[in-house]
Amino acid sequence: MTQAEKHPVQYLSNYRPYPFAVEETRLTFVLNPDDTEVRAELALSPVDQNADLVLDGGKGLRLIALGIDGQEPDPAHVSRDDERLTIAAAALPDGPFTLATTVRIDPSANTAFEGLYLSGGMFCTQCEAEGFRHITFYPDRPDVMAPFRVRIHSDLPVLLSNGNPVETRQGFAEWHDPWPKPAYLFALVAGDLRAISDAFQTASGRDVALNVWVRPGDETRAGFAMESLIKSMKWDEQVYGREYDLDVFNIVAVDDFNMGAMENKGLNIFNSKLVLASPETATDLDYERIEAVIAHEYFHNWTGNRITCRDWFQLCLKEGLTVFRDQQFTSDMRSAPVKRIADVQTLRARQFREDQGPLAHPVRPDHYEEINNFYTATVYEKGAEVIGMLKRLVGDEGYARALDLYFDRHDGDAATIEDWLKVFEDATGRDLTQFKRWYTDAGTPHLTMTEEWDGKGGLVLHFEQQTPPTPGQDHKPPRVIPIATGLIGPNGDEVAATRVLEMTEARQSFSFDGLGARPVVSVLRGFSAPVVLHRQIDDATRAFLLAHDTDPFSRWEAGRELALSALTALAQGQDAGDDFIGSVARLAAEDATDPAFRALCLNLPGEEEIATRLSSLGHVPDPDAIHAARDGLATRLAQANHELLDRLYQDMAVDGPYSPDAQPAAKRSLRIAALGLLNRIDGGDRAEVLFGTAGNMTERMAALACLIRRGRGQAALDAMLDEFGDNRLVMDKWFSVQVMAAPSDDAAAIAERLSQRQDFDWKNPNRFRALLGGLAANHAGFHHAGGAGYAFTADWLMRVDAVNPQIAARMSTAFETWPRYDENRQQLVREQLQRVAGLTDISRNLREMVSRMLE
Ligand code: PHE
Ligand code: ZN
Repeated sequence: MTQAEKHPVQYLSNYRPYPFAVEETRLTFVLNPDDTEVRAELALSPVDQNADLVLDGGKGLRLIALGIDGQEPDPAHVSRDDERLTIAAAALPDGPFTLATTVRIDPSANTAFEGLYLSGGMFCTQCEAEGFRHITFYPDRPDVMAPFRVRIHSDLPVLLSNGNPVETRQGFAEWHDPWPKPAYLFALVAGDLRAISDAFQTASGRDVALNVWVRPGDETRAGFAMESLIKSMKWDEQVYGREYDLDVFNIVAVDDFNMGAMENKGLNIFNSKLVLASPETATDLDYERIEAVIAHEYFHNWTGNRITCRDWFQLCLKEGLTVFRDQQFTSDMRSAPVKRIADVQTLRARQFREDQGPLAHPVRPDHYEEINNFYTATVYEKGAEVIGMLKRLVGDEGYARALDLYFDRHDGDAATIEDWLKVFEDATGRDLTQFKRWYTDAGTPHLTMTEEWDGKGGLVLHFEQQTPPTPGQDHKPPRVIPIATGLIGPNGDEVAATRVLEMTEARQSFSFDGLGARPVVSVLRGFSAPVVLHRQIDDATRAFLLAHDTDPFSRWEAGRELALSALTALAQGQDAGDDFIGSVARLAAEDATDPAFRALCLNLPGEEEIATRLSSLGHVPDPDAIHAARDGLATRLAQANHELLDRLYQDMAVDGPYSPDAQPAAKRSLRIAALGLLNRIDGGDRAEVLFGTAGNMTERMAALACLIRRGRGQAALDAMLDEFGDNRLVMDKWFSVQVMAAPSDDAAAIAERLSQRQDFDWKNPNRFRALLGGLAANHAGFHHAGGAGYAFTADWLMRVDAVNPQIAARMSTAFETWPRYDENRQQLVREQLQRVAGLTDISRNLREMVSRMLE
């Protein structure tokens, strides 16, 4: 049998309910690093009397015993292949029965970090999406939900699982989770761990014990995670009326983890980089991410766990909604406009990029080979944008009513996007048939606006929408697009407050009357829809909006557009940029404006973003020209505003003990933006002083990157190695900054040299991503015309694939933009992708990615 036959493409339209109900799942673990025994007792009731019992279970399960109501079934009725165990209907009782299996597994050999594995001497699990089948035989699908009882035998001091503790003594623990859950939310942890602990009382008076578990010695860096958890619990009660539902909530930090974190019921498991933080080791951005991801995983308790997904096609049901909720949370904790701008930047950098290339897919895909390849920016970030649009269309109150109905109607369910939309239809009376296209159709719509001014107070806005084809979807019908629009008078006052224009046709016009003079249109305020906007506008009008728009997002966007129009012109050999330099400097000098907002305006778009823009304008991006254009414009900006930048650099210094709060972090972000520009003209002197004196990692890392860019980073790198050589998280930064800030000609060679170091522990996902992801983030370096960046990346994809397929498949997205580059680069990438495709024993994960990219 070929790979493809063994594991065919999965289709949404093939969904069938599971023919058995699992009334209870009882698991007993006897933990040993290379020989763990797992006994599973499933209380089953047939729903369809004629169905065979099919259980998922990988090759790594050594089946020791099998019994149905205590009897071993006739072997003629039992069959097994690489992926499942089947017991023929003929061997099954008519009514409820208990299936017992005993298997043995080897956690120490598990380098893919899926199922039960070891990380730094501790046992832990990762079961989403389909990891549970590497632990025991089970219907490993999200619509099969059961209460779990888990017994753990081990000499390790801390033994954890989901739910509430039933019994804990030396060598043994028993846990019970009363809330029916799918197997992907199962978790087990055993190790020599230390907790920092706190308590929370829910609105209705339930006392909850909170613990953040870390390795001995890391306790001092877990406090911020705990604070973030408590803030999240309060916020979900206040804003969504959602209370926690168990007596304990445990968080565990592990060093080897493929993703960011996981929402297992009552036992969240986190990549340690999203838990551990101290001022000396973590940047402001790290702190902000920890706060957001702790919130995200906590919020999953309702959006994901209490209401889960019917099948993996519905992944955005929990992820889009939970990202939307964590974004709301961060806006409430910090600055809402700054958060919105940052989210749009991420969306464009990751999701628009994905939509533009061969990996484009709908927010709700309708087929896949390997579900792990669909934990994407489209499912997560665009999934959140779609909910933002829904909220804009039905209003805040409509949204609140719909969410209440959702929790009411679907608590305990494994639900679908149809269920989700129906709730909005029932709560608000709105027909969402057309809106559903945002879930089913891939691609970023292009929206073109033209203006018609009649000279006597009437303005008509004409819009046209068009979505380019994506793989498998050539024709895209028009979508509902909420276009938040306001009008600004010539004196800078707002003459029409924000109004949401609802576009439903391919072409549609909206008029405004009774205007005194021709206003400036502020359109797509707050980025009210995830579209690419085209409008006829000159730089003077953009500069006007940057100075006067009352919507902070649109204000920033005007500056961004000014920068991008200058940069795309410069990259094509034209002269441009004076308008941008003048107006961004005026904004940077506005002392009353949030420093974080000013920093966002001062930071030039990255090279990747410039390439994306050029490509969406129909040009072939030239990485070297883009690099030179950005360099040149930044240097001119610095030269023209030397004094202002120096003043900002001084003024934004924060005295006193470090705090990761939004306000001091905002000042540091502006200070660093100024430093980055000054660094282009002061030879690196300020950066050197700052690196030696800063008391926080935010400024030290910024200074280090500056020094590397000036070709004088070695001493600082050595100092950091000396000080933090045994701190994994800091060393990850140390690896990545060197490749990210490297000159494009040397980036691949530097990556190569770093990859030969003893401490390049490439089997650790964070370390692997630090280096390979660092290179991919160096646009001109990765896309160097010699092809060394491509070859280096492909070599490592092949090597890591044998050990950890998920990590190989994720990193392969470094190549997803290849069709937009020139012939030479296309050819170089094609060769590398073909080389990877030819790998013997290539994983299903990587094979699917590479073949989609080559199609
Ligand atoms: N469900 C996790 C989250 O988004 C992500 C994840 C997916 C983690 C798969 C591990 C494996 O919160
Ligand atoms: Zn999530």
